[in-house]
Amino acid sequence: MPSSIVIGTQWGDEGKGKVIDILASQAEVVVRSQGGNNAGHTVVNNGVTYKLHVIPSGILYPDTLCLIGAGVVIDPKSFLQELKTLTDKNISTKNLKIDPRTHVVMPWHIVLDGLSEEFRGSSDIGTTKRGIGPSYMDKYERSGIRMYDLIHPEIFKEKAAASGRLKNEIITKVYGGEALNIDEIITEYIEYGKQLAPFVDDVSVLCYEAHKAGKTIMFEGAQATLLDIDFGTYPYVTSSHPVSGGVCVGTGVGPKMIDRIIGVAKAYTTRVGKGPFPTELNDEIGEKIRNVGGEFGTTTGRPRRTGWFDAVILRHSVRVNGLDGIALNKLDTLSGLGDLKVCTAYRKPDGTVIEHFPAALEDLDGCEPIYETVKGFDEDISGCRTFDELPEACKAYIKRVEELCECPVTMIGVGPDRAQIIIRD
Ligand code: GDP
Ligand code: IMO
Ligand code: MG
Repeated sequence: MPSSIVIGTQWGDEGKGKVIDILASQAEVVVRSQGGNNAGHTVVNNGVTYKLHVIPSGILYPDTLCLIGAGVVIDPKSFLQELKTLTDKNISTKNLKIDPRTHVVMPWHIVLDGLSEEFRGSSDIGTTKRGIGPSYMDKYERSGIRMYDLIHPEIFKEKAAASGRLKNEIITKVYGGEALNIDEIITEYIEYGKQLAPFVDDVSVLCYEAHKAGKTIMFEGAQATLLDIDFGTYPYVTSSHPVSGGVCVGTGVGPKMIDRIIGVAKAYTTRVGKGPFPTELNDEIGEKIRNVGGEFGTTTGRPRRTGWFDAVILRHSVRVNGLDGIALNKLDTLSGLGDLKVCTAYRKPDGTVIEHFPAALEDLDGCEPIYETVKGFDEDISGCRTFDELPEACKAYIKRVEELCECPVTMIGVGPDRAQIIIRD
């Protein structure tokens, strides 16, 4: 299949990085289309762990073109650090390109992310504090600084001075924070611009040319469907469109270019940060999933909240993204938990049963998950490489997930390594 999208179906950290890395072995181009360094994608190859934030997960393949599309926001300082981490490990970054339309995360965005969270007090969102929301705010207010500006010092100086001055007013007068030294920031960022300039290229054109040449393109989603600004649990969401529809606008390609859409899910559910989570387990099983599954944030190190698999949110993802298949990761983590539960629908406080994820949190309030119990398994499945090798209980679990989500499970993750995958299609 020439062009595929790989997207998160839950609240992030489903193992998108791993799936992209595996599929990238057959891809010539890997493209990121939204988000920024709030993302943390882990790739494990031969026991070596790579943690990527903005750089596409195809980077481990030296000949793969890795593109960062217009819809991404880039923190230059963190980007250059990420680049260094890779070059220190002898990973080539010569095929990495950044669209000039990407917006730049400036230091005031990071400060404002922290201050606005503090101001919200107990109603905070639990952001990654990477300045993502404030940067997208500037973009949509049409006052943002783009990569093009950053690599043109004269343009950058003018825009950064104007933006920085206004942001200092907000930081000091609205939030009572400390003013930033705008001149120092401008000098520092002009240097970053010089280092980034060689990477800047038109990603829309590169994708179009690659497509015309019949090359295989993978679009790598960041965050996930339930964190989408419109289709997630608003306001406990991120400030971009992680759904499949976001890929076209975030890279500058037409929808007809896409042949296949794969949704990545965990065999259970996790969430970092605040917001509703109907199947959350605040008990021993939840703790066991967290410890066995290593459920701690790749970007912030925060413990992830854990819970049972929720078919209501998966059905929402299948519909919103138009999924062709599900990559179900971390099935191995469920071993030894005893019987497993799967949420099939929600029951509202008035007794009504709902099968579709509600639009407003007010409608989700008080909803109880309706569970079905599925037989668990105790075997170590991390060495299984074919569907037939899996224990019968695992096969039955997957079959039930497929029925409830109305979508085939085409890949099954049985461990973090590149090799620990069962591919069915
Ligand atoms: P992403 O943000 O969707 O790319 O996911 P993260 O990298 O943030 O988190 C997924 C975590 O699960 C990482 O630590 C992966 O190495 C790990 N992982 C991915 N797939 C599997 C799997 O099938 N089994 C196990 N045990 N770990 C996995
Ligand atoms: P990957 O790509 C999990 C969450 C944050 C917070 C909310 C808003 O690794 O799956 P933001 O900093 O984006 O304004 O925070 O979104 N969040 C993620 N959770 N995985 C991610 O990315 C996330 N990116 C943002 O925890 O709840
Ligand atoms: Mg992650």
